[in-house]
Amino acid sequence: STDPDFEGVDQEMASGIIEPRSPFAHKGNFGHALLIAGSVGKMGAALLAGKACLRAGCGLLTFQSPETERSILQTGLPEAMLLTGHIDANYYRSIGCGPGLGQSAAAATLLEQILNEVKRPMVWDADAINLLAVQTEWQKKIPPFTILTPHPKEFDRLAGISINESERWNSARALAISKQWIIILKGHHTLIAMPGGKAYFNTSGNAAMAKGGSGDVLTGLLTGLIARGYTPEKAALLGVWLHGRAGDFAASEWGMESVLAGDIIDQIGNAFMEIS
Ligand code: APR
Ligand code: MG
Repeated sequence: STDPDFEGVDQEMASGIIEPRSPFAHKGNFGHALLIAGSVGKMGAALLAGKACLRAGCGLLTFQSPETERSILQTGLPEAMLLTGHIDANYYRSIGCGPGLGQSAAAATLLEQILNEVKRPMVWDADAINLLAVQTEWQKKIPPFTILTPHPKEFDRLAGISINESERWNSARALAISKQWIIILKGHHTLIAMPGGKAYFNTSGNAAMAKGGSGDVLTGLLTGLIARGYTPEKAALLGVWLHGRAGDFAASEWGMESVLAGDIIDQIGNAFMEIS
């Protein structure tokens, strides 16, 4: 874009953000992530987010998910732990909320507890955003620099309907500033709007990613990068770039029609290696 207000997120920017993994590190150095995700019939979203979270390099992952769905997570992702009871939310270096969560009363109670306890930036997506759009009194409790990852419909529920894309971009930038949130407005050119007013357009990614589950992968990746130690702003830029590149690699392997969200996860490592 020639608009000086928007900077492109490209390979050079991503490689400037990435930090090498210390050879002397142990899992405790790379953070413990918590994903509040999944509900009956939508456990796939939790699994996709969880796998992407671990591929981001974080040390440990715990899910908060319904007890009845335990075996899906424990067999689908044996590297992760599962919590079904009380959460000590401040124990975790990073918290991601929303993939496959649903909008039940139980989900709302859980998110309300998180908001009352957590003071550090989180990642909010999907039904967590849909609930936030309705529970407007929650909005002042969202910690500054929390990353929200709406697709256009989720964004409009939160901010009001925009009549076209450029109006929606401006609305996202204004909301990022007024609420002090990082807003990742997803699309072909995903917009990243920062609380300080800067805005970026991502240049990686492709239409093979227009398939259910791609967004859940992004949420997990971002949650993992924050646990790994990146600031939310760096995680947002790096995560959106890596997600798109992983989608590009997946498209060259499987073809534009046939990429699955899980194939994007499997290419996250190649996207990292390209910029390391
Ligand atoms: N070009 C580049 N990137 C794309 C394109 C495209 N043409 N189409 C989609 N993507 C990327 C987006 O940038 C985004 O990162 O794929 C991802 C899609 O995310 P979502 O819209 O959240 O889709 P999805 O994964 O299906 O969401 C899962 O959560 O948001 C709810 O209702 C939604 O049921 C759905 C679930
Ligand atoms: Mg989504």
